[in-house]
Amino acid sequence: MTNIKDSVVLITGANRGIGKAYVEEFLKAGAAKIYLGVRDLDSVAEMAAQDPDKLIPLKLDVTDALDIQNAAKAAGDTTILVNNAGILFFDDLTSEDAAKNARAEMEVNYIGPLLLTQAFAPILKQNGGGTIITLSSIVGHVSMPALTTYCASKYAVQSLILNSRAQLASQGTRVMGVYPGPIDTDMAADLEMDKFPPQQVAQETIKAIENGSDDVFPDDFSKATYEAFRTDPKAVEAQMRESYEQQEAA
Ligand SMILES: NC(=O)c1ccc[n+]([C@@H]2O[C@H](COP(=O)([O-])OP(=O)(O)OC[C@H]3O[C@@H](n4cnc5c(N)ncnc54)[C@H](OP(=O)(O)O)[C@@H]3O)[C@@H](O)[C@H]2O)c1
Repeated sequence: MTNIKDSVVLITGANRGIGKAYVEEFLKAGAAKIYLGVRDLDSVAEMAAQDPDKLIPLKLDVTDALDIQNAAKAAGDTTILVNNAGILFFDDLTSEDAAKNARAEMEVNYIGPLLLTQAFAPILKQNGGGTIITLSSIVGHVSMPALTTYCASKYAVQSLILNSRAQLASQGTRVMGVYPGPIDTDMAADLEMDKFPPQQVAQETIKAIENGSDDVFPDDFSKATYEAFRTDPKAVEAQMRESYEQQEAA
């Protein structure tokens, strides 16, 4: 099992939202070093200045293959990779931009973690096995019609999680999936639902690393929705349709 104490963590999208919460919680849990993967190095300058020995800014746009290559060279001591960076568009089938948005979401939410998993698998192996934590969403299991293209990217992420878990088990690399419900970050600013704090996602992930569970449902919404889905998937499908129809009628 990967020890969090003295681990070396690379977090994509580390500058805000859930990524920033991961930085704070991994620090509290005793990580030795955290690479702050970000598109804009200035966005973490202040954060890194608070603990410059441990917090190392790293230019990392997850859609840029060269950035990923350079990150693998610069962060060869990584033991925990957190695929956190993500984007979301609110669109359903009526959206004229659906195809454009779907391509962009696939690039960031799926191809990015795919390339990072490929690039860091040999590094984690060399460092004793390690752990890959990939952010999906409860909508990677359950479809929400108002998020048609985003859901598709998170279903793809679920496939990546399961397939990389199967392929990396023999080298001792653990692959974890995180499936939050609505979390109070910029991404969910327009979502009119009760939201959970981003710190809770990071804290529940760290607990799961320690207690050996691979699937993290970090909040009451994601836990209840997944349980309902496991019990009666058609009922959840109908519930999602009804809430979409109500939103459309409002
Ligand atoms: N918030 C929710 O309700 C919720 C629920 C379930 C799952 N999630 C998932 O949790 C993860 C984090 O979401 P969040 O809520 O923290 O979102 P957020 O507040 O919008 O932050 C998104 C992060 O991703 C980064 N990012 C976007 N495109 C990138 C790219 N091409 N390369 C590198 N970084 C990029 C952003 O960097 P910039 O500052 O440079 O844009 C930012 O750091 C995502 O995978 C999301 O899908 C979120």
